[in-house]
Amino acid sequence: MSKGRVFSGVQPTGNLHLGNYLGAIKNWVGLQQDHETIYCIVDLHAITVPQQPQLLKKATQEVAACLIASGIDTNNSILFNQSQVSQHAELAWLFNCVARLGWLNRMTQFKEKAGKNRENATVGLYAYPTLMAADILAYKATHVPVGDDQKQHLELTRDIATAFNSMFGEEFFPLPEPVIQKTAARIMSLRDGSSKMSKSDDSDFTRINLNDEDDLIAQKIKKAKTDPEPLPETVEELENRPEARNLVGIYAALTNQSDAEVLVEFSGQGFGKFKPILAESLIGSISPIRTEMNKLLADTNHLDNVLSEGSKRAAVIAEPILRACKNVMGFVQSTS
Ligand code: TRP
Repeated sequence: MSKGRVFSGVQPTGNLHLGNYLGAIKNWVGLQQDHETIYCIVDLHAITVPQQPQLLKKATQEVAACLIASGIDTNNSILFNQSQVSQHAELAWLFNCVARLGWLNRMTQFKEKAGKNRENATVGLYAYPTLMAADILAYKATHVPVGDDQKQHLELTRDIATAFNSMFGEEFFPLPEPVIQKTAARIMSLRDGSSKMSKSDDSDFTRINLNDEDDLIAQKIKKAKTDPEPLPETVEELENRPEARNLVGIYAALTNQSDAEVLVEFSGQGFGKFKPILAESLIGSISPIRTEMNKLLADTNHLDNVLSEGSKRAAVIAEPILRACKNVMGFVQSTS
């Protein structure tokens, strides 16, 4: 039984890591069970900052391979890249004429990404959230799994939907809800528990990449920063121990438990005991993904076909919604 239509997007960036997997992908896989799921590799969002064409293509294929290897079932879920479904860009333009400068001026991600040199940012980077609203509303999606950093953009999507509805017809667009993850897996650097695990950190030992070999994973966990105390009994006692908390959080997310449940099992134990078990669990999750990913990436034609099939299925849903949208806005359209 479907509990609604899920839409989410991921940027085509190379070097996917554990943070991407536990923070988003694993959640996407789980949602397939009882929702209609549409997952989009957002290449049009990627070009809001300069991209090298060859690398963009490679990153798109890598993300597709990673999602499939992680358990996105393309017989059920729709998996595609954004630029192949032109309805996204077209609806984004319509929304550019609904959203207000004042709304976009509040977006903290633009301020962060544009930095001091705002005059030099692309218009696309500024309008990024209206494209994201189009992604979601082109399917009248009801549920949107997003991380904390995207909540403001989802709020804006709701504002656009509300404004559109009041201008052109009540209840045209449903207001999409954020999907909050059960295990709030915010995965931090293995060397600094206060900064997010990131593909751009200089040191490779701060992160577990999804293509790391088993030995390397074990080595990285062994060298991960910790403190000398054994694991405590309560989650509160982890508060001022960011590195310990991160490792507990990783294990919890991998094994579908809460941090508290992990502590029930490991309280009183030192990291000498905990780390090898964590490493084993990581290898158990990542190793099959890595193997499958490499297999898929050996045949990029096949991957490209999967994405274009997904794009066709996506367009079948988005096309009539865009058409109805244009109709209520007063555009003359072909009648066929
Ligand atoms: N902006 C999102 C990110 O950077 C990606 C994204 C694009 C998205 N369109 C979306 C997420 C629609 C959810 C729904 O993570």
